Amino acid sequence: MPLFPNVINSKLPQVGTTIFAVMSKLATEHKAINLSQGFPDFSCSLELIGLIDKYMKGGFNQYAPMPGVLKLREMIAEKTQKLYGATYDPGTEITVTAGATQAIYTAITAMIHENDEVLIFEPAYDCYIPAIELNGGKPVFYQLKAPNYTIDWTEVQKLVNHHTRMIIINTPHNPTGSVMSAEDMTKLEKLCKNTDILIISDEVYEHILFDGQTHQSVARFPDLINRSFIISSFGKTFHTTGWKIGYCLGPKNMMEEFRKVHQFLVFSVNTPIQYALADFLKNADNYLGLNEFYQQKRDYFNKLIAGSRFGCNPSTGTYFQLLSYEGLSTEKDTEYAIRLVKEFGVASVPVSVFYHQPKDNHVLRFCFAKQNETLEKAAEIICKI
Ligand SMILES: Cc1ncc(COP(=O)(O)O)c(C=O)c1O
Repeated sequence: MPLFPNVINSKLPQVGTTIFAVMSKLATEHKAINLSQGFPDFSCSLELIGLIDKYMKGGFNQYAPMPGVLKLREMIAEKTQKLYGATYDPGTEITVTAGATQAIYTAITAMIHENDEVLIFEPAYDCYIPAIELNGGKPVFYQLKAPNYTIDWTEVQKLVNHHTRMIIINTPHNPTGSVMSAEDMTKLEKLCKNTDILIISDEVYEHILFDGQTHQSVARFPDLINRSFIISSFGKTFHTTGWKIGYCLGPKNMMEEFRKVHQFLVFSVNTPIQYALADFLKNADNYLGLNEFYQQKRDYFNKLIAGSRFGCNPSTGTYFQLLSYEGLSTEKDTEYAIRLVKEFGVASVPVSVFYHQPKDNHVLRFCFAKQNETLEKAAEIICKI
């Protein structure tokens, strides 16, 4: 089709094809074992699928209420109360969203005005910056300290000023697999005291922590709760990333603004899945077993690659493992990741792409949410490199 010139003044001129798409395409072309994609290659629960079938056949196929099916919001409130001791009113403080991405976009759109500064920790999941910029906000960056990707809160404090409107945290953390401690959270609490800073806490991996650690949800911290949106994703918890369903928790006054945007962005989220999830959440084993499930995968993968020349600091949460190729090559991580697909047949994601200006620590992200057979094939290749 002929293009009409000069009609498009891009709002996101920097955004092009993501490395995720590039790596996946390359992986397919080269028939590589794909550990670049951040989602499981195994099935979700058949019981859950059966429940959706039941509700679809039972006629639950029209619009859900704008904030979500009440039964599901009640189950989310119950889970949050049990796990983190926080009380959220299903009527006014919980909204079901089309995945965490929509919740993050909605929260930023509801709260960020022109020239507001939003502090984010890099490397960062890729949907934060575009959402901030589309709303006229300015992202301000703090670089987590490699190799364990920790936070020095005295340095963070120096980035905060009277323009700072929001801080976005993500624990457990994609792409690094690091986890914020209770001490981190109390330091964040202290930093926010006597300010009007809001928080988005991206907790989509809340049920994937290893070695007996406890998830430090913002919901555990009374001085953070009243200024925070907490966002989670059923996609991560129930191996159903393709269903795009999650939720947002927040105090009533913030949630009111959130819902104003939500109702014009999506209005509501698909109905039968919400009813099915409400039933499925009744059995806490369905999500509490996830730590153990993924810890076994992490340990299995790490054992398989123990003899390789890659450096490995075991991941402490999420389903990602970083591997360092320091000493193996001096190439940029983007080039090295591409070479691994083309020459060796294994796909990963270079961590530099999670920075607004590429910062290269010579590390690659591998996703171990894969069947053991996939992990074995990938490890065999990794050990040969
Ligand atoms: C840290 C983080 N936040 C948000 C999301 C988006 O979740 P959803 O698929 O529910 O939109 C992801 C997905 O990979 C993620 O890793």
